[in-house]
Amino acid sequence: MGFESKELLQIPPSGIARFVSANDVNDINALAKLALTYKADPFMHKTRGLNKRIGLLFLNPSMRTRLSTQIAAQNLGMEAIVFNVGSEGWALEFEDEAIMSGNKVEHVKDAAPIMGKYFDILCIRTFPSLKNREDDYSELYINQFIKYAGIPVVSLESATLHPLQSLTDIITITEVLQNHKPQITNCKPKIVLAWAPHVKALPQCVANSFSQWVNAWGEADFTITHPEDYELDEKFTKGAAITHNQEEALKDADFVYVKNWSTYKDYGKIYCNDPEWMLTNEKLSLTSNAKVMHCLPVRRNVELSDEILDGSSSIVTLQASNRVWAAQAVLSEMLTAIS
Ligand code: CP
Repeated sequence: MGFESKELLQIPPSGIARFVSANDVNDINALAKLALTYKADPFMHKTRGLNKRIGLLFLNPSMRTRLSTQIAAQNLGMEAIVFNVGSEGWALEFEDEAIMSGNKVEHVKDAAPIMGKYFDILCIRTFPSLKNREDDYSELYINQFIKYAGIPVVSLESATLHPLQSLTDIITITEVLQNHKPQITNCKPKIVLAWAPHVKALPQCVANSFSQWVNAWGEADFTITHPEDYELDEKFTKGAAITHNQEEALKDADFVYVKNWSTYKDYGKIYCNDPEWMLTNEKLSLTSNAKVMHCLPVRRNVELSDEILDGSSSIVTLQASNRVWAAQAVLSEMLTAIS
């Protein structure tokens, strides 16, 4: 194995590894390579996490993230405990110096250190409120867990980012390039992040995170297309070409990542629900036989058409299945860092 520990993940001055953003990774290609190695041999490090326990805290719903992270932990020999803290735990207060006279029962300052004693690694899913941009983009919830837990923290999707999903997306693109599009491994693939309609106001997390990771990866020609007023935070998109002309964006694309998000500037709104923005086979014909990606769950025939999802261009199931290997690579590196 050519993977040296403490090189793939950044270790902050605290000495505790964390995985909440692309900025926590030193070498994305090496982490993706490790993930694909685990895909080929899931149990090659089946004792790496022996006698270690991972806590998976969910303040919000999940299917793929919950299952894939549990499987990944178990492949490494860890015991995984899931706690649906949002629906089954005490209501948590996150604001420092709060006067807790409302409906919040326990402060994260008291709860997180206990988690730090019960577990070796703590994973958390928290969604944004979509009501106050400054609050959401401060990432208060996950940052308070990082501050008070005293053990490595992994984001299972936070208010603004979804790093395990984005690592999976890079892994999937890498795998498809190796297996199905070898002709473009010597040049940069064209990747398009394409906004799609939705009936609900959704977070910007997946789109922010995908943009952050593709930019950090640096191995793609990256375009983002969305209707007017759906600009994302430039902090994540800087470096991408951005256009409101979807057809122009799709031209010659190798990968089209479809995703809805609500507005960032006038925060959390739906300005456009134009069904014309939904990807169809006709539009896909503009691409270079592009593979179509989506993080799931997806609203069929609203966000993405049946003909795309059920057709040969869709790689959404491959993508979701690769969530296991992304999580396994990250947990493996963390275990090595804390051992
Ligand atoms: N893509 C994703 O995070 O799926 P879940 O919400 O089901 O975990």
